[in-house]
Amino acid sequence: MRCRRCRAPAVIEVRRHNAGFCSTCFLRHCAEQVRRAIEEHKMVAPGERVLVAVSGGKDSLALWDLLLDLGYQADGLYLGLGIGAYSDESGAYVRTFAESRQARLVEIDLPSRFGFGVPEGAAAARRVPCSACGLSKRHLFNQAALNGGYDVVATGHNLDDEAAVLLGNVLRWSTDYLGRQEPVLPEAAGFARKVKPLIRLGEREMAAYCVLRGIDYIVEECPMAEGNRHLGYKAALNLIEEASPGSKQAFYTGFLARGLPHFRPESEEDRGELKPCTTCGAPTPSGQCAFCRLVDSVAAVGESTPVPVPTRRRRARR
Ligand code: AMP
Ligand code: FES
Ligand code: ZN
Repeated sequence: MRCRRCRAPAVIEVRRHNAGFCSTCFLRHCAEQVRRAIEEHKMVAPGERVLVAVSGGKDSLALWDLLLDLGYQADGLYLGLGIGAYSDESGAYVRTFAESRQARLVEIDLPSRFGFGVPEGAAAARRVPCSACGLSKRHLFNQAALNGGYDVVATGHNLDDEAAVLLGNVLRWSTDYLGRQEPVLPEAAGFARKVKPLIRLGEREMAAYCVLRGIDYIVEECPMAEGNRHLGYKAALNLIEEASPGSKQAFYTGFLARGLPHFRPESEEDRGELKPCTTCGAPTPSGQCAFCRLVDSVAAVGESTPVPVPTRRRRARR
């Protein structure tokens, strides 16, 4: 197979585009896809400051690399989630990358700052770990952006992630979530803008990008993600994609163009008035925000007892 752009031997085939790319043209293709996503969805305006949430995984490290190369003022944000060796290792990958690019990295460590990690928080609040983790991330990403004067928070959600979430929302007809599943959540009082510049690139492309750029990343899945429904939805979509390349992208982009406009108004109506959290001041429907309630539930069970982290799993090869 030859590169679609320069006819040199191809190193990767992207079946969705019915194309092969050589290494140089593939890296250019990734940058072009990010540039187009940013432009099409007005994610970042010239001169704005971006805070890239980096987990140590391939997607967010590749995103940070791409944004820096595209000339954005992009600093990194790493949250230490207190998930045993998994968190230690992911943090190390993020720091190594930041040093290699001489980029600024903001770090927030949940255990040292708030006295608990995701496993303890989830146990105290009687939530599944991914739920305690998700709400902590949303809260802390936003706080870090506001405190640091950033205009926008960028996350490494890729096409596979968004298509899997969409499938889950459609299977349940979660109309409220469907109305909010946008690649850009605009800024509002107390909220920084949130953007997902990797929506035009798949998981496999991001892994290839990191390999070709020599970016080391954590390969293991989070050990707390066992049983996470989205992993099953991703596997189901991969089967469909295998039989019919392009389905995943058609599903997601078709939703943005033709589905989202139907659900958006209802979801906007459902969003009631927000008031400042009585503890931290973050906007919330009433009383304390979900993150402060989580902090309080850990405090209520006394000294946070460490919860064992399950053995790590290798990411399934595709
Ligand atoms: P996940 O929710 O783990 O699928 O991650 C989705 C996105 O959230 C990643 O691509 C990152 O942008 C961001 N993210 C996840 N974990 C962290 C973390 N520990 N620190 C900073 N950002 C993170
Ligand atoms: Fe959040 Fe695993 S990264 S529970
Ligand atoms: Zn709060």
